[in-house]
Formats: sequence, C-alpha cells, structure tokens
Amino acid sequence: MKTMIDKLKETCDLTDDEFALLLGELSPEDTEYLFAAARDVREREYGKDVYLRGLIEFTNYCKNNCYYCGIRCGNRNAERYRLTEEQILSCCEQGHALGFRTFVLQGGEDPYYTDECMVPLVAEIRKRFPDCAITLSIGERSRESYQALFDAGADRYLLRHETANEQHYAMLHPPELSIRNRKECLFILREIGYQIGAGMMVGAPGQTTEYLIDDLRFLQELRPHMIGIGPFIPHKDTPFRDEPRGSYPLTLRLLAILRLMFPKVLLPATTALGTIHPLGRENGVLAGANVVMPNLSPTNVRGKYLLYDGKICTGDEAAECHSCMERRMEYIGYQVVNSRGDSKIE
Ligand code: 5AD
Ligand code: FES
Repeated sequence: MKTMIDKLKETCDLTDDEFALLLGELSPEDTEYLFAAARDVREREYGKDVYLRGLIEFTNYCKNNCYYCGIRCGNRNAERYRLTEEQILSCCEQGHALGFRTFVLQGGEDPYYTDECMVPLVAEIRKRFPDCAITLSIGERSRESYQALFDAGADRYLLRHETANEQHYAMLHPPELSIRNRKECLFILREIGYQIGAGMMVGAPGQTTEYLIDDLRFLQELRPHMIGIGPFIPHKDTPFRDEPRGSYPLTLRLLAILRLMFPKVLLPATTALGTIHPLGRENGVLAGANVVMPNLSPTNVRGKYLLYDGKICTGDEAAECHSCMERRMEYIGYQVVNSRGDSKIE
C-alpha cells in the first residue's frame, strides 16, 4: 500500500486496480500514511491556510425531483422560502464584516430567479463588494444564462456532477435529468471562464467502487478548480429514506486521494461531513481539505434548507459559525484566512 500511495503522490495517478485497492479496506497504519501524504501536498501548496466561503441558501424551491434530496419538488413537507434581494445583500454585508471574501449563492432550481432577477442581483453584489468572489450554485441553466451571469460579475460556479456513471445517474435522478446535460453544463461553464466546482456524494445508493473510479476519471478529464464531496445522508421525506448513509472513513480517504491527484485543487470539508461526525470538518482538513463553508443564511430560514437529516448549524448565527470555524481550525493547527481564496489552477 505504501508504495502505491507514494506513487500516487509522485505521479498524481494510479491504475483502476490500484484505485480500487485504495478505496477498499485500509489498515489504520496505511490510512494514516495516506492522510499524511495528502497533508504534505496540501501544506506544500497552501500551507496551513483554510479558505472560507460564506454560504447563502437563498431559496429552497426546486423544480427537480432528485431521489436523494430533501428539497425535491415532490417533498410536500418542506416549508418553502425565498430570500429577497435585500435580504441576500444584507447577508453579504454581515459576511463581509466578519471577514468573508467569497459569497456562495446556493439554491434549488427555482424558476422564480430568472436572469432578469439574478443578473441585477449579481451586478449589485459585484458593485458593493468589489474585493469579493461571487460563486453561484443554482443548477443547470442555458449557456446564455451562464454567460449573462458571468458578465454581471459572477466568478465561480458550483455544480456537482453527482455521479459520472450514466446508469448510476439514472438511479439517483428522474428520467428528465441526464448526466449528458450535467457534464455539458460543466464544460460550458469552464469555457465561459468560470472557476468551476464539480463533485459527488460518497456512498450514494447504488454506488460501487467502479462508479467512484468513473468519478475520478471524469474529474481528470474536467480538471475543475474545486471538488466538493460529502457523504450521502438520507432524508426522511425522500425515496432514499431507508438507505444507509455514506461511510465516514471512505469520505476522508477520498478527500486524501483527491488531494494527491489534484495538488492545487480547492477541496472543501463539507457540512455533510461535519454532520456525520462531530470532528468531520477538522478531520477532513487533516486529510487534505483546504476550504470550509460556514453558513451565512438568516437564522430563520436555516432549518428549512434541509437537503438531508440532522444538518448542523441550523440554529446558529453567522457570527457564531464564523468564530466556531476559527476555533476549530486553530485547534488542529490551521488558520482561516480572510481572502478570496482563488484557485491556483489555470
Ligand atoms: N446527502 C448528502 N448530500 C446531499 N446533497 C443533496 N442531497 C444530499 C443528501 N441527501 C448534495 C448534492 C448537491 C449538494 C448541494 O448537496 O451533492 O449537489
Ligand atoms: Fe456553525 Fe460551528 S460552524 S456552529
């Protein structure tokens, strides 16, 4: 195992069979060796810095019906909300005062937020916060829409591919959604000039090691600036309510593997990881992650943006999450930094 981990560290690649071994069972000693290698590369590229992204969950309306997601349109129990432009700007204001220099506007695929609505909003954020990066995470849209939002001042776009395998994609999504369109969107976004983020859930129902390797190969082809991964966690009002959650050790191992494959990539230790283990985000950073995304949404809507059960931070104020994150990172010997935290990938 150790020779294989060394090879991955040196060449940023392995054969499918070798990846399969790394994704299988690892002894505690090999696991620690893998994490140490990932930390090494992470510290070579980014030192002990941890970049912050302020997440603004501005709508939980969604026209899609993904089988895993708590805000799928078929979930009649979800209490829906939309933030006004004013509320979104005030989240940014608060976030900026706390030191955030990246805002992530995330929402379901909500037809209410047309380009007529989003373009002026992005332009206003760009105008008021010229030193900040604007990240959008609002799903599949047309090339024209992506272009208009980019021209208005958006810099980055997060669109997880969820799974690169066509059969698996069809197990997780209704027939109107396709992996072809998903991938097409990602390539368009990168062509336009966005810094892009892709990623998958670990342990999504039906996932196999082979499918995970498909994800790794797809990521090699796409070469995104960011890779967001987190464990699948069931939500009680979805068809996957009785499916088991993704494995915590496997998620950490994948973070380390991704760090070794893509030394400069931005790799968040996600909220989902923090949800399945009290030290999930800390251990994610110790396995190679270099980004955390504290919540900036107004407290009164946090409990409604529930993609999965048990989500953390739903009762906390933005300032609490910010200082909590500072403390958590300090505790493990890292420090959050108040910068845009741009990708070092061209
Ligand atoms: N468990 C974990 N992650 C989920 N997501 C959606 N539903 C779940 C769930 N039940 C992830 C998807 C999506 C991101 C915003 O949240 O990967 O892209
Ligand atoms: Fe939200 Fe710790 S990050 S309370």
